[in-house]
Amino acid sequence: MFKSKLIALAAISFLIPFSSVAKAQSAELLHWWTAPGEQGALHVISQALASSNPTIDLISVSGGGGDNAMTVLQAKALAGTMPFIAQIEGAHIDAWDAIGLIQNLDTIAKRENWDQSLYPLAKQINQNDQGEYVALPLTLHRMNWLWVNEPLRKQLNIAPPKNWPELLAAMQTAKSAGITPLSLGSDEWQVALLFENLTLSLHGKDFYQQALVQLDPTALNSDKMRQTLHAFRQLSQLVGRHIPHQPWNEATSQLAKGEALFQIGGDWILGELLAADVAIPDTINCYAMPGTEQHFVYNMDSFIFFKINTIDKKSQAQIIEQLSSRTLQKQFNLKKGAIPVRQDIDLSDFTSCQKRAAAAFTKASESGLAIPSMTDSMALPPVAQRAMTNELFRFFMQSNISEQVLIERLISIAQAEI
Ligand code: BGC
Repeated sequence: MFKSKLIALAAISFLIPFSSVAKAQSAELLHWWTAPGEQGALHVISQALASSNPTIDLISVSGGGGDNAMTVLQAKALAGTMPFIAQIEGAHIDAWDAIGLIQNLDTIAKRENWDQSLYPLAKQINQNDQGEYVALPLTLHRMNWLWVNEPLRKQLNIAPPKNWPELLAAMQTAKSAGITPLSLGSDEWQVALLFENLTLSLHGKDFYQQALVQLDPTALNSDKMRQTLHAFRQLSQLVGRHIPHQPWNEATSQLAKGEALFQIGGDWILGELLAADVAIPDTINCYAMPGTEQHFVYNMDSFIFFKINTIDKKSQAQIIEQLSSRTLQKQFNLKKGAIPVRQDIDLSDFTSCQKRAAAAFTKASESGLAIPSMTDSMALPPVAQRAMTNELFRFFMQSNISEQVLIERLISIAQAEI
């Protein structure tokens, strides 16, 4: 249905050049893991590659969700200074593969038995239409989590909410008691992520797929969509005007400190909590977003490897093999808060939230309820995803934008992509 497209080049001012100085025999790894929990996970990679030849320089691009990093990656590609390795997600893999700049990993995948070790979903996301591996998967994140400050919840005498009306009521109770109901980062994707969770919570998988994956104009212009937008506006009235200018991980620290009752979002939040030594599940517990218990909204981080002729092929292969190893993938995910993409990793050392995520993933996959995140580049081509996110954010922040105006804008985005 959709054509692969690259996002138009914007500014490159997000680049933090603190970690990269061009040297002979070094290769770059470009990523957006800049929060403390993410840095802890990244450290597993830099430790593992510490003695590699070439050495790996980390290029950090601030901005959770990766939009800034993708802009920098395009700028580097246009300038002919591609990194060797880049963090990437879903639809972006196809876009880079389509223009022929990234490596085919089939030989390594065969040698390392990726076909046997990876979950089928990881294969599907990291292979192109010809069934060739063009990316290496690293994490499987669940996006439909409600993170709850348990001491606060008990103090407010609130039962874990089971559906949207109960969640709304719980947030109203917190607000009346002078407690921030929902901690939220101010990035656009943070707000769009609330919308996708609400859509699934209120109307289930089929509607989610029609509206947010297929961008079906009839679904976008339906009563179900209007109901979702109504709930989204209620949420914005509850928290919207008070969003502090902060990244998602500062919202997580508000939650951990007991300054907010809830946070909705992917399990990189767990990585952040673990890095801050927060007790899981006693202080912060994970519940599925109310109304989405049977579902697993996924997001997967991968690496792509650019065709670089300054490093010999054997060294490149060694690095890729190391990154795909069972040990590295286990240690990385333990810190990242995610679950591994390899099925042969023992989860007994993982937290209760990660074990529940893994069980939820298996069950949801069997029942066709594992669904891609629209917000986090798993469902739509990059241009459409950015446009949708931007429109949803504007609607959330500006109460003078009506439901009908937003619906018309979303339909225009859909029509540009069909
Ligand atoms: C990535 C995660 C990352 C999160 C916040 C998501 O797009 O998949 O790995 O932790 O953004 O930065």
